[in-house]
Amino acid sequence: IQKEALEKIAAAETMNELQEIRIAYLGKKGSLTAVLKGMGKLSKEERPIVGEAANNVRQSITASLEEKTAQLEEKMMEKQLEEESIDVTLPGRPVRVGGPHLLTSIVEEIEDLFIGMGYEVKEGPEVETDYFNFEALNLPKNHPARDMQDSFYITNEILLRTHTSPMQARTMLEYKGVKPVKMICPGKVYRRDTDDATHSHQFTQIEGLYVDKNVRMSDLKGTLSIFAKKMFGEDREIRLRPSYFPFTEPSVEMDISCKVCHGKGCNVCKGTGWIEILGAGMVHPKVLSMAGYDPEVYSGFAFGMGPERIAMLKYGIDDIRRFYTNDIRFLKQFHHA
Ligand code: PHE
Repeated sequence: IQKEALEKIAAAETMNELQEIRIAYLGKKGSLTAVLKGMGKLSKEERPIVGEAANNVRQSITASLEEKTAQLEEKMMEKQLEEESIDVTLPGRPVRVGGPHLLTSIVEEIEDLFIGMGYEVKEGPEVETDYFNFEALNLPKNHPARDMQDSFYITNEILLRTHTSPMQARTMLEYKGVKPVKMICPGKVYRRDTDDATHSHQFTQIEGLYVDKNVRMSDLKGTLSIFAKKMFGEDREIRLRPSYFPFTEPSVEMDISCKVCHGKGCNVCKGTGWIEILGAGMVHPKVLSMAGYDPEVYSGFAFGMGPERIAMLKYGIDDIRRFYTNDIRFLKQFHHA
């Protein structure tokens, strides 16, 4: 038994094989165990001799098993170390550096411009009440102009804001009808529009509001033209067209001329040569008084612009959906140091 067992142990190559050998000889039904079990049938004289011999065999098998186990473990360890070794002399893979999203950069650029003119930056809720989104802006229920902005309603009284203009009313209420207001509010807005190259059901707006004594239309025009020049450079023209918003009177829309260019990415203006980037006007007296400002004492102007359109115009981007699909090849072009 001993010889046979030791040969098998020497030949074993895996832990499993060793385990099988242990069971075959030393296990409950193992052959050495059988010898020990059979001792009862032996004579008194034979017993100690056979017992000692069997014990020696057991010890020798056990020792051999232990030795082989240690050998195998060492082998496995060596193999693992070899497989997992790292060649520290190999050149490293380049680390890709991220950067701000184009939309983030544009919003920050616009913010900086207005901060420079004394505006504070505010943020408001995207889930808005019907009151602030419409009523406080002189759009009572059933007003036909509500159709200008198809809305996502959540309940009868709660919707996703269709513009950032609710922040006009919210900010005026916060300033309690006494302090001048000079703020811009960037944020996401939502409309039930069909997505195409120039429309998206979710987009960004930046609201602006300036309320004080003696604010005039010429102040609005001056502010917007400074903005346009700083943003686009002197080679672009702006034009103000008379327009209608229920919360401003008079109301205007501002277009910017497209850069003359040829080929792909130059059709932002769709052939007209102009793209609308902003709506504005003098705050309607009703909007002022609903928010606690006496229209006999205070006046103001407001504007709302779309940063996506501004970026499209500035960089000749042909499709608003590029802002949201996060194609890294598109985004990378706007990562400057
Ligand atoms: N809220 C208007 C829109 O979303 C834009 C606007 C803002 C117009 C402020 C006038 C004054 O179209």
